[in-house]
Amino acid sequence: MIKMVTGAAGFVGSTLSQRLLENGEEVIGIDCFLDYYPREIKEKNLKPLRDYASFRFVEKNIIDLDFPVILEGVDGIYHQAAQAGVRTSWGDNFEIYTTNNILATQKLLDAIRNKPIRLVYASSSSVYGETGKFPMQEDDLPAPVSPYGVSKLAAEHLCRLYWRNFGVPTVSLRYFTVYGPRQRPDMAFHRFIKSICNGHPLELYGDGEQTRDFTFIDDAVDANLLAMKKGASGAIYNIGGGTRISVNKVLEMMQSLLGKKARIKYGAIQKGDVTHTFADTTRAQNDLGFHPKTPMEEGLKKEAEWIRKNILP
Ligand code: UGA
Repeated sequence: MIKMVTGAAGFVGSTLSQRLLENGEEVIGIDCFLDYYPREIKEKNLKPLRDYASFRFVEKNIIDLDFPVILEGVDGIYHQAAQAGVRTSWGDNFEIYTTNNILATQKLLDAIRNKPIRLVYASSSSVYGETGKFPMQEDDLPAPVSPYGVSKLAAEHLCRLYWRNFGVPTVSLRYFTVYGPRQRPDMAFHRFIKSICNGHPLELYGDGEQTRDFTFIDDAVDANLLAMKKGASGAIYNIGGGTRISVNKVLEMMQSLLGKKARIKYGAIQKGDVTHTFADTTRAQNDLGFHPKTPMEEGLKKEAEWIRKNILP
């Protein structure tokens, strides 16, 4: 049987595809190279996947897929494709988010309505918003504070209602700020490591005391495989790394790891950013056997190595 990975050229999608291929699975990767960051970076992500005879790549937007044909032999979909970015989802950009995050997910769900295909959806901690209650639990009332979060939550609801109404077996994973090799160039760790290495100034939004439950990429990939195998249909799981830490502390760790001082410029808090995230992963531990394995020092080191090799001039 074949696994489909949407967003296969992206950060999580490409790493997940690679793991599936290493595990001997057959994979169809879908990606339309949204122009949020350079295609060149995504092509680099895809390169090792293209070496596998068991990998087929289709360059298309989900909305334009010829579903009955592409789904032949597929028994599971890892739906990682999205218009990413919390802080850029305002104004006219929202249309890009509604199309690629909401409409595309609905089309995918509708296409598998009467088929024996499981779907694992990449949701986000940004659906919670400013809950003021920590750790965040799946049954807390979601109240996103960014249009991006609204789009991810809407698609999560679509997954649940396709399960409720048509029995489509969907599982939603709420990722908490994933980092590591191949991290997107708009994200904090990627930007910070690059700037420190180059001796350029970096911009810190707010005072740096905001916290995130940062999750290493391999742990997020583990969660996907476990969810496909064991996730309860219609369920939502928090996927957090168990290393909640402030951005200031991360910067200290980066500077000592890289042996260089950061040139920090303090900027305004960005509209749409939540102050703190902190995952209660009890449900994922109990149902999926999810246990994040990578400590922050190790994960940071791996991301820095990747940036040095692949991103720095
Ligand atoms: C990340 C991803 O970008 C989203 O796609 C994902 O849905 C979300 O995590 C999630 O897990 O819910 P974010 O937490 O904003 O969003 O991730 P980063 O870009 O790594 O930012 C982390 C923190 O660093 C934020 O507080 C942000 O304001 C700050 N930051 C980021 C800076 O101070 N400067 C920068 O240049 C970038």
